[in-house]
Amino acid sequence: MSDDPAHVWVDGRLLPAEGAHVSTFDRGFQLGDGIFETLRARGGRLTELDEHLARLGRSATGLDIDLPADIDARVRAGIRTLLEAEGLAGPDDDASVRITVTRGAFRGRGLLPPPGAAAPTIAIQAWPISPPPAGHLTDSLHLVTSDIRRDPENPLATLKTTSRADYVHARLEARRAGADDALFLTTDGHLSEATSANVFLVRSSELATPDLACAILPGTTRSWILGWAPGAGLRPTEGWLTTRDLAEADEAFLCSSVAGILPVTSFEGRPIGTGRPGPVTLRARAEREAFIRGESPQGSTAGPRPGTAP
Ligand SMILES: Cc1ncc(COP(=O)(O)O)c(C=O)c1O
Repeated sequence: MSDDPAHVWVDGRLLPAEGAHVSTFDRGFQLGDGIFETLRARGGRLTELDEHLARLGRSATGLDIDLPADIDARVRAGIRTLLEAEGLAGPDDDASVRITVTRGAFRGRGLLPPPGAAAPTIAIQAWPISPPPAGHLTDSLHLVTSDIRRDPENPLATLKTTSRADYVHARLEARRAGADDALFLTTDGHLSEATSANVFLVRSSELATPDLACAILPGTTRSWILGWAPGAGLRPTEGWLTTRDLAEADEAFLCSSVAGILPVTSFEGRPIGTGRPGPVTLRARAEREAFIRGESPQGSTAGPRPGTAP
């Protein structure tokens, strides 16, 4: 069976995946003037949907995109319709769901959106998830540094906008270097994040991650891990970390909603720790996957969590 989606959901309508869905005048297409979220639907359960909708709202505010008042209800209904149409709502299904919202389509040209604006375009897509290749858990990920720096003063650095050229460029840099992903550093040389994931370091009983001020996306998985750590006997810290901290860590991992927790065992061609996925990383992955399967409440119902952007 093909993994290619058969449908998309756009502005309230379920459409065949083949064919045109959005206007060429849409500012998302023209300018990358939009925002998005990606989350996991396991057995039809939407992991941390509330957190993703809250972040979508913050990204919209940051770009001054007016979301419809009933955006949450529309998105929930759209995801449900799409997952069912795609056959991804069953108890054994595992899917990634992307919600994209753009400022909408305007016939005129130019950067400044005209007053009295068109309605935002809302699109939802879903793909089946297959487990990560065995090599990603045994050999794990190899990282290099991107040439692109992230500026902590940039007000857009923490938003999930559809302007992703920097991230595509960095991923291509990684591929050219024979690595799996690239890490961004801040303009003053501190660790920021990977192209689609946050980064954590294990240093003895400390679980360290770059501070929210390090030009990172405030990841939902990052936030879950910070809440999970004390129960696993680890001391979570958020700070300004360096490439040396990464090189000298006992373990390192990346985390995101869809990929979950993935071990990182080399940086710039040198092994991290033993050069094998470590016990903290593997435990974190197993417990996060259990949470996603609905087998553990830790995370979304545990009250206010550290590391969550206001
Ligand atoms: C740049 C970037 N950082 C971090 C993350 C992790 O965020 P989350 O855990 O909410 O998926 C993502 C997710 O796509 C991302 O694109």
